[in-house]
Amino acid sequence: MVSTHPQGVQHSGSQYLPQKRSTNTKPAPNQELLPLSAKVNHHDFLEIGGCDVTTLVKQFGSPLYILDEATLRLACQQYRETFQQFYQGESQVLYASKAWSCLAICAIAASEGLGIDVVSGGELYTALNAGVRPNQIYLHGNNKSSAELALAIESGCTLVVDNWHELRTLVEMGAKSPSKIPIMLRLTPGIECHTHEYIRTGHLDSKFGFDPHDLPEVFAFVSQQPQLNCVGLHAHIGSQIFELQPHRDLATLMVRWLRDAAKYGLTVTELNIGGGLGIKYTESDDPPSVEEWVKAICEGIQATCTAENLPLPKLLCEPGRSLIATACVTAYTIGATKVIPEIRTYVAIDGGMSDNPRPITYRSVYRAVVANKMSAPLAETVTIAGKHCESGDILIHNAQLPKTVPGDILVVLGTGAYNYSMASNYNRLPRPAAVLVADGEANLILQRETYQDLIRQDRLPERLRT
Ligand SMILES: Cc1ncc(COP(=O)(O)O)c(C=O)c1O
Repeated sequence: MVSTHPQGVQHSGSQYLPQKRSTNTKPAPNQELLPLSAKVNHHDFLEIGGCDVTTLVKQFGSPLYILDEATLRLACQQYRETFQQFYQGESQVLYASKAWSCLAICAIAASEGLGIDVVSGGELYTALNAGVRPNQIYLHGNNKSSAELALAIESGCTLVVDNWHELRTLVEMGAKSPSKIPIMLRLTPGIECHTHEYIRTGHLDSKFGFDPHDLPEVFAFVSQQPQLNCVGLHAHIGSQIFELQPHRDLATLMVRWLRDAAKYGLTVTELNIGGGLGIKYTESDDPPSVEEWVKAICEGIQATCTAENLPLPKLLCEPGRSLIATACVTAYTIGATKVIPEIRTYVAIDGGMSDNPRPITYRSVYRAVVANKMSAPLAETVTIAGKHCESGDILIHNAQLPKTVPGDILVVLGTGAYNYSMASNYNRLPRPAAVLVADGEANLILQRETYQDLIRQDRLPERLRT
């Protein structure tokens, strides 16, 4: 059933436009559904960054990731400025590039004064090639290879050490290194939060980080390694979190770890509290703003430092989703429709689980609008089906849309985080292009893959050639 507005018919896309605010309230990207520059133009078409979405699809094809530069930059600025406002010590915001790693995005984050959190040699290589300074890069990972560790040491970035195996490997590698290796220690805080089990990382039964029971042993060991310079401690409790209390608890706990480290002769001066702030994917999602999240953490750290009589550490955080998710939408072209009377109507699009694996992986829920029918009344409830050979390849269940026809442009909202970065070539679909839009200009930041790209790494043994 299509719901109607108490005063009449609901209009399809316009209802998701960023809310108009009084001049003294700042828009918070993570609390909106559409990018902040989204507008409906006089043709009733969706415009982002001053570019008509239907024109972008004509020019660059579909599926197409459309990234609004203004929304991304504003989110970076909000994080940075809010730390400056609420934290009396030094602070540094890092972009968790696992959300979406590519040259242009790393370059934008760095130009806004953010460092970069990377989790593999590939992400590290991308950040370095985007021109990010190595001392602004932090390498994570629960099973870094020797090659990844070597690249990190050689480039001079900080390593976030996850476990005993890595620690011992670094001690060996450090013996050959001309300078001390800067490290942080990742600890499992044992803090539960309400989010999907696959994106929860802070509970004790997690593959990430040192067990807190091992802390005395870890601190004692690290304090005796002259090749390692342990600058800080790190923890991350999970992703898409709407509560503030788990991060307040984490702030308190981390300051106590800092105090305990000092007992083992370690002078640790930095705390990295991770990322995790949630975003609004649907009307019913109500995440805290960046300001509320940062304030809660800063208050927690400052109050515990005062209570423990400790100097304020340099405070780092590494959000991914809340920096980039809302800035991007994915435009698809609608094709086939299958009506099963009294059961369901499937509306198929030209992408699916290969460009957005989150619905099939986490049962994530998305909203969509029709870019060329922004003010048309909602007329049907449909299931948006991807084009993959998989019954579970459904992007949206019960999407409320105006009447659609083949060729209409469906725009799925909030696709900036963990979409491109988790994209695959399943069914040998080439990965889509991405454009960066600002002030009426669109720049290609990721070229669409071609069929040639798909077979580039294939090798056909001579004996199989016909
Ligand atoms: C260690 C670490 N830091 C930061 C992040 C970014 O989290 P989010 O995108 O929820 O802000 C993640 C994501 O899971 C993570 O594992």
